[in-house]
Amino acid sequence: MATEDLRFFELNTGAKIPSVGLGTWLAEPGVVAHALATAINVGYRHIDCAQIYGNEKEIGDALKKLFADGVVKREDMFITSKLWCNDHLPEDVPKALERTLRDLKLDYLDLYLIHWPVSAKNGKLTKPDIPSTWRAMEALYNSGKTRAIGVSNFSVKKLQDLLNVANVPPAVNQVELHPSLQQLKLHSFCESKGVHLSGYSPLGKGYSESNILKNPVLLTTAEKLGKTPAQIALRWGLQMGHSVLPKSTNDARLKENFDLFNWSIPADLLANFSEIEQERIVTGSDFVSKTSPGYKTTEELWDGE
Ligand code: A2P
Repeated sequence: MATEDLRFFELNTGAKIPSVGLGTWLAEPGVVAHALATAINVGYRHIDCAQIYGNEKEIGDALKKLFADGVVKREDMFITSKLWCNDHLPEDVPKALERTLRDLKLDYLDLYLIHWPVSAKNGKLTKPDIPSTWRAMEALYNSGKTRAIGVSNFSVKKLQDLLNVANVPPAVNQVELHPSLQQLKLHSFCESKGVHLSGYSPLGKGYSESNILKNPVLLTTAEKLGKTPAQIALRWGLQMGHSVLPKSTNDARLKENFDLFNWSIPADLLANFSEIEQERIVTGSDFVSKTSPGYKTTEELWDGE
């Protein structure tokens, strides 16, 4: 469910998730504090973090200062973090959240996600046991240390398997989503189950060299509406009902990426998005191996979806 101007979406917990969040993957520890302060100044109230990004301590220091200086209140922020694959054993899950809370200098998270449906221990892939990891996530939710729990990089099949055993259904599935990876099947499934879809790499970048922002459909739409291709990609996400998590550490681009309200992509231009060739950028190939007790191929990881 969305508020009129798409500034928030409602989660199945009843909480509101701000529709634009600051992505922090590949935001260098030295620059992330400045980016965060700029973002909050521009109006961002949602930050997407993860333990594996290696910058939660710096983000925590920056947040502490912003709260102390009265720039923003904790209760007005929506802060997400993610459980890394090494911490999937039920006894490791609460310790991982404690570490993240300590680093971020917070009492609670707004959302804690299983980062990948992949388990590892001592540098080796192991067989995932999502139901037992989920039980431990549910305990964290019940303790109040995180106000919502969810998953990331889950296919329809994996989400359905989880819904079959969950007492607390996941509030969010965070996946790669942009006009060049629209994930329409996952979108419909999540909509039908009340699971909010959140889009990472919404500009289609991440580590990759690919540039979806040069796609002719985006360029034409941007030109017609007097916006940038990045704004078109992000606004497309909002109109689909997805929250979007663009990463930037550049002041001008942070501002540009938040200037998504009070205008929209009209239906006739939106119709052209179905012509865009689809391509997954974050393939998860590091998480598969022929000798793994988990997934042997990326086909298996994504269930061919
Ligand atoms: P920078 O941090 O220098 O702004 P994604 O979130 O899809 O992975 O994209 C992040 C990448 O896109 C980063 O390299 C970021 O660089 C760049 N980026 C962020 N905002 C914009 C924008 N408005 N236009 C073009 N590139 C952008």
